[in-house]
Amino acid sequence: MTGWVLGIIGGSGLYQLSGLENVRRQTVETPWGSPSGQLVRGTLNGVELVFLTRHGKGHHLSPSAINYRANIHALKRAGVTDILSLSACGSMKEELHPGSFVIVDQYVDRTYAREKSFFGPGCVAHVPMADPVCKRLSAMAAEAARSAGVENVVEGGIYLAMEGPQFSTRAESLLYRSWGMDVIGMTNMPEAKLAREAELPYASVCMVTDYDCWRDAHSDVDINDILKVMADNSGRAHDLISALTLVMSKQERTPDPAGIGSVLDHAIITAPE
Ligand code: ADE
Repeated sequence: MTGWVLGIIGGSGLYQLSGLENVRRQTVETPWGSPSGQLVRGTLNGVELVFLTRHGKGHHLSPSAINYRANIHALKRAGVTDILSLSACGSMKEELHPGSFVIVDQYVDRTYAREKSFFGPGCVAHVPMADPVCKRLSAMAAEAARSAGVENVVEGGIYLAMEGPQFSTRAESLLYRSWGMDVIGMTNMPEAKLAREAELPYASVCMVTDYDCWRDAHSDVDINDILKVMADNSGRAHDLISALTLVMSKQERTPDPAGIGSVLDHAIITAPE
């Protein structure tokens, strides 16, 4: 046993994991409601994985309808030590061509119709988000992506989280580009914020499926094109997960070096009764 229990949240095009041993499915409820689907537990290369499909079975949940609090709560209660997010994204940079895997390290959160905190009336907490992802897990994911044969693995990048479900207008896309954004997607927020509140190290592999609409005045983002690229990406995503578990199987887990696992020690402002 190496101490890692890896939670994996799979986005568009990644609805199940193959190759798991000793598979168990759990239907769970949380105080925040139902997560997107069953938790699928199993082992890969001796490492315990807990998989959750973000959009639910058959992709029935739009980005705004996902119960992010229930998802993170369910993974926490399932005993995961770390969360790896895998999701499709659009590219805001020429060099991040479709097929690239960007391990993002910053976010600009432009979502506005989602529950974003476990805290609220009665208990207020302000967790730090200056460094929103776990550097250790991100580095391991990048190494795993390279050994999975992904041609363009980029470490670091800014993810613009938009509400959706419609894609951006061309004016919005050009605006986000002028802000220096690298990729755009609809789901990493508030997921990353809630993972931090749950004291869970979070890393995000963003798989580029398209150039959004800034690049060519005559082209739109088309979901069918996105799904075609995702079909190509999903094999590499599986190889990445397998490679990551191999790395983890050789390394005893220690508390994350940045102190994400104890972030609430200094975040709760409400006075005890
Ligand atoms: N997911 C995949 N491509 C996207 C795009 N262009 N905008 C937002 N989310 C996306």
